[in-house]
Amino acid sequence: MAFDRVGVVGLGTMGAGIAEVFARAGIRVIGVEADAEALARGRGHLERSTGRAVDRGKLTAVEREEILGRVTLTTSRGDLREADLVVEAIPEVLEYKLALFGELDRICKPSAVLATNTSSLPVTALAAATGRASQVVGLHFFNPAPVMRLVEVVGTVVTAPTVLSDIGDLSANLGKRAIVVGDRAGFVVNRLLLPYLNHAAQLLELGVADRDGVDAAVKLGAGLPMGPFTLLDLIGLDTAYEIMGALFDETRSLRHAPSPLLRELVGAGLLGRKSGRGFYAPAEEPAKPGDKSDVATFAVQGSPSLAVRLAEAGFKESDDPDVVLHVGDRPVVEHAVRLARPERLVGVHLAEPVVELASTVLTSAEAALAARDLMTVIGLTPVACKDRAGFVLDALIFPYLNDAVRMYESGYASIDDIDTAMRLGCGYPHGPFETLESLGLARVRDGLRALYAEYREPAFAPAPLLDQLVTAGLTTFPRP
Ligand code: CAA
Repeated sequence: MAFDRVGVVGLGTMGAGIAEVFARAGIRVIGVEADAEALARGRGHLERSTGRAVDRGKLTAVEREEILGRVTLTTSRGDLREADLVVEAIPEVLEYKLALFGELDRICKPSAVLATNTSSLPVTALAAATGRASQVVGLHFFNPAPVMRLVEVVGTVVTAPTVLSDIGDLSANLGKRAIVVGDRAGFVVNRLLLPYLNHAAQLLELGVADRDGVDAAVKLGAGLPMGPFTLLDLIGLDTAYEIMGALFDETRSLRHAPSPLLRELVGAGLLGRKSGRGFYAPAEEPAKPGDKSDVATFAVQGSPSLAVRLAEAGFKESDDPDVVLHVGDRPVVEHAVRLARPERLVGVHLAEPVVELASTVLTSAEAALAARDLMTVIGLTPVACKDRAGFVLDALIFPYLNDAVRMYESGYASIDDIDTAMRLGCGYPHGPFETLESLGLARVRDGLRALYAEYREPAFAPAPLLDQLVTAGLTTFPRP
């Protein structure tokens, strides 16, 4: 089926981005908003985004005019009667969407396909609100829509296979890779991404590390394009909270319980970029390092190479040091209590260029400062955290990897689709299975066991498949 004319209902950040994607691919777009004010905002999104592309030399002024010229903006839904496809991108409220799908079913021509960009509501329920359930799909884009190269095409039990393949072909024409999945809360990407973001908010609330430390650890230490709090601000805290709620409703797993901190920020109207402030305020200064220590001497447990680097930077190893750096197994406090001066011991996890520095309940403020300064001098980015399983990075990343294994085990998506989805949907340098294999399956399995032992969260227990592969001595996942 040819999709020559496409309607987009709702021109917020996502809807406007989706309209731009179609127009850039040469397709005529009918953009619909509720009233003139919302329409003007939608026009503003389109003009800014394409204007920015001209400024960066990605589009010529003429191409920009052509793209904008392909978009007709209207407040009348009746204008959608000629559309071959309508993509809905209105707020995530089921009753609004049900009403809209009923209305689109009445307005649109019989052959038209109706799609929803929902990230948390059941596509099946929307399909059932129409008399053309076999022509209703999920078509889920990622923020920013013009940039992220993935779409999730969601089929329900009644979607016609030809509709799925037509939408898959259309996605390729838009320059997007489509993965086709069934109708489960969160689909692939949000099911893996949002629990990890929520978990970051939980660690923040538990005081395991601060906002900037968590973001730095993830961005620099794991190489992801954004730290979790920067990304939450981009997605919108209200959207994140809604998705977590939908995941929890489906799974009843504590791993999916929305963080109270998210609820509080949403309640305060701090929704992220769209409201001007979320975890970050607009023109916030990066945190400045506080007091400097006058550390001179150190000892290192468990890493001769770290000791050499510190000595080369001019610090002295000593039997009675200012700070003892413990690299290795934890709980760190068990190593501290063996020392004459337990307050001087700090746990260290290197994820270069990040170094996580774990203070125990006994660590003195002076020793924590000393550790931070030593690491800064040798060119690392210190992230202060508490002595908790996985510190920050492994605590956030390992459960996400485990979730991916469970998703594959459940038969919902293939390893390749899951890896592709996370690379293209979130800009990750590697998919979760690629990451698991490069970190080492045994290391991740053992890290998960430690997390489970500490937090007793059932979702942290290693997925049976991961456990079995390690027991069998395998280092990669079986791929067909
Ligand atoms: N609109 C249009 N284009 C944009 C844009 C926007 N809002 N933001 C950035 N871009 C473009 C820039 O113009 C630039 O394009 P060129 O390379 O062609 O010049 C490119 O993106 C890179 O931008 P920047 O150099 O300014 O910034 P960056 O290198 O820091 O990249 C980013 C920005 C692409 C957003 C990157 O940080 C990233 O990939 N972040 C992860 C985003 C992510 O995870 N998205 C998915 C969220 S989940 C979701 O959306 C689903 C849901 O249902 C909640």
